Amino acid sequence: MSLLKKFQQTSMDSILRRSKPRNASLQVEALELSKKFAGSKNGIYAVNDLSFSVPQGQMFGLLGPDGAGKTTTLRMLASVMQATSVVARVGGFDTQREKRQARQSIGYMPQNFSLYPDLSVMENLIFFADINGVHGSRRNERIQEMLTFTRLKDFTKRRAANLSGGMKKKLALACALLHEPEVLLLDEPSTGVDPVSRRELWVILSQVVQNGVTVVVSTPYMDEAERCNQVGILYGGKLLTTGTPGDLQNSLPYEIIEVKAKPRKVMRQIVSDAAYIFQWRTIGDRLRLSVKDPKRALEELQRELNAADAEIKLLRHTKRTMEDVFIHLVEERRAQV
Ligand SMILES: Nc1ncnc2c1ncn2[C@@H]1O[C@H](COP(=O)(O)OP(=O)(O)OP(=O)(O)O)[C@@H](O)[C@H]1O
Ligand SMILES: [Mg+2]
Repeated sequence: MSLLKKFQQTSMDSILRRSKPRNASLQVEALELSKKFAGSKNGIYAVNDLSFSVPQGQMFGLLGPDGAGKTTTLRMLASVMQATSVVARVGGFDTQREKRQARQSIGYMPQNFSLYPDLSVMENLIFFADINGVHGSRRNERIQEMLTFTRLKDFTKRRAANLSGGMKKKLALACALLHEPEVLLLDEPSTGVDPVSRRELWVILSQVVQNGVTVVVSTPYMDEAERCNQVGILYGGKLLTTGTPGDLQNSLPYEIIEVKAKPRKVMRQIVSDAAYIFQWRTIGDRLRLSVKDPKRALEELQRELNAADAEIKLLRHTKRTMEDVFIHLVEERRAQV
């Protein structure tokens, strides 16, 4: 390690040690969190200098595509993976040096099914209560609370292997919450779950947050990111930005227009030729256009579509979404490299 790096690391360590807890209300703090896997090609970092913090009782969404580094980040926060650099604090504890204490504050739900398929729902709950130090009457109390909370009361005897995808996720969540963690780390909790169960899972999660638990949740879904207090957009191991969904949407340097017209070929031609539209993409049967001046764009499009005898089914100025933010940031990043 270079002298400079060593100095930087020591300074970062001392800042964190000095400040325990640096800010009592900050339950998760990642400071230049990095991970380089042994043998990685060209010294590429899977997670590169991530810094973010989450105040108590808030939900932070790590939004990113496959391979962005979401799981690696959560594993380091959960103290189950060694970070290449310093440092992360969860519940006021250093996840590398104070693993035992940190883990007591953490409920971790990994991306892949983490339960015992041959054990029943109840047996899984008992097992996870035991390994997390929840014993005696408290254990029974917590198990009943979690069964009610996740609406799994009628399925206690069913083997975990035979649960539906949504129920498996709910059981994993119940197991992660048994020891009343202050911080819940969830890795894609609703991937592979049907839309109804997905909504139900998010209702449960919002109750968890209302109860004061701090949540870091990874997701590839833009609509889920919009439910978080803060979002970090992760791409190629780098945190491109963080902010509230509203602030991120408002920071976009353009507005959005939706258009649907027939014949589609004519509509696409007009949109591709328009100099005042600087990006567009297809969403279902309509096009989503990025424009600087929505009023002018609406007028121009109406005029051009009418002139081409196209039938306008929809033409409107619409709200910017997290997907717009994500696409903008990723394209900006690609243009830089
Ligand atoms: N144990 C490992 N050894 C080497 N490389 C790894 C290892 N685990 C992950 N990686 C690489 O690190 C990068 C980030 O992976 P990670 O699993 O954190 O991404 P992710 O955002 O969780 O992706 P997904 O949405 O597919 O779950 C990827 O390029 C991956 O191939
Ligand atoms: Mg992952």
